[in-house]
Amino acid sequence: MVIYSQKETLAQALSSVAKNEKIGFVPTMGALHKGHISLVKKALDENNLVVVSIFVNPTQFNNPADLAKYPRTPEDDILLLKKLKGDVIVYLPEVSDLYDASVSAKKYNFGNLENEMEGKHRKGHFDGVGTIVSKLLKIVKPNTAYFGEKDFQQLQIVKKLVAMEKLPVKIVGCPILRESNGLAMSSRNKRLSTKQFEEATIIYKTLKEVRDKFSSTSITDLNALVAERFLQNPNLNLEYFEIANEKTLKTAKRRNRDSKYRAFIAAFAGDVRLIDNMPLN
Ligand code: PAF
Repeated sequence: MVIYSQKETLAQALSSVAKNEKIGFVPTMGALHKGHISLVKKALDENNLVVVSIFVNPTQFNNPADLAKYPRTPEDDILLLKKLKGDVIVYLPEVSDLYDASVSAKKYNFGNLENEMEGKHRKGHFDGVGTIVSKLLKIVKPNTAYFGEKDFQQLQIVKKLVAMEKLPVKIVGCPILRESNGLAMSSRNKRLSTKQFEEATIIYKTLKEVRDKFSSTSITDLNALVAERFLQNPNLNLEYFEIANEKTLKTAKRRNRDSKYRAFIAAFAGDVRLIDNMPLN
């Protein structure tokens, strides 16, 4: 496994890959868990070689304390990737390799996708995501890039970004991997105490309850039910719950027979912010 810290040397190495060889790409912010590894394995199955980037992107954090506390475990990440069978290349840059001194994000209009849910609560977040994903895709030039569905809004925005910038890459979404208690796997879970880890299962249980009741219960009643479940669990602070149209990500007030819906939750366990979602129909 080769590790690059500079975009020029990485791009140069990748430029010698034969035209008929397929490059897969898994962008990450490190603190790798089984969810990331499942993306890398899928990418290895479908490509001749796979690039994994490990970079905590400062421009997508609206809260400096969150950026400072984001888990960073590069040595462990490398060990995990080394265990995989297949040709993995790691890109582990410093901020200065990807940003000039201003460390700023480009402003994007993703046709309103960026103004829903995460966009409302994390101002500028998707400008940061768009900026870094665009930079990385232009350096790696993969045939296919893999993103987890835990960040479902991010996945939709990346698909839009690629269409807007006409980047020749296929974007593949991969299902959420869960802990045995149902909690969606996330690098942020490393920051939970054992008690918080157990309590956070309410997020999954509530999403499942919403899914089970979706066909027989109004959206207004489901919204009330979720508020009630979180009131019963005061150690988890609900930031938002939304049932949204999968395509537009717009909040659904009532069901339309031909549309697909997903339920989305963001909640805090202490100062750890967790998100999750589930398809409803
Ligand atoms: O999902 C993530 O880990 C990040 O948002 C990404 C896509 C690597 C961009 O920094």
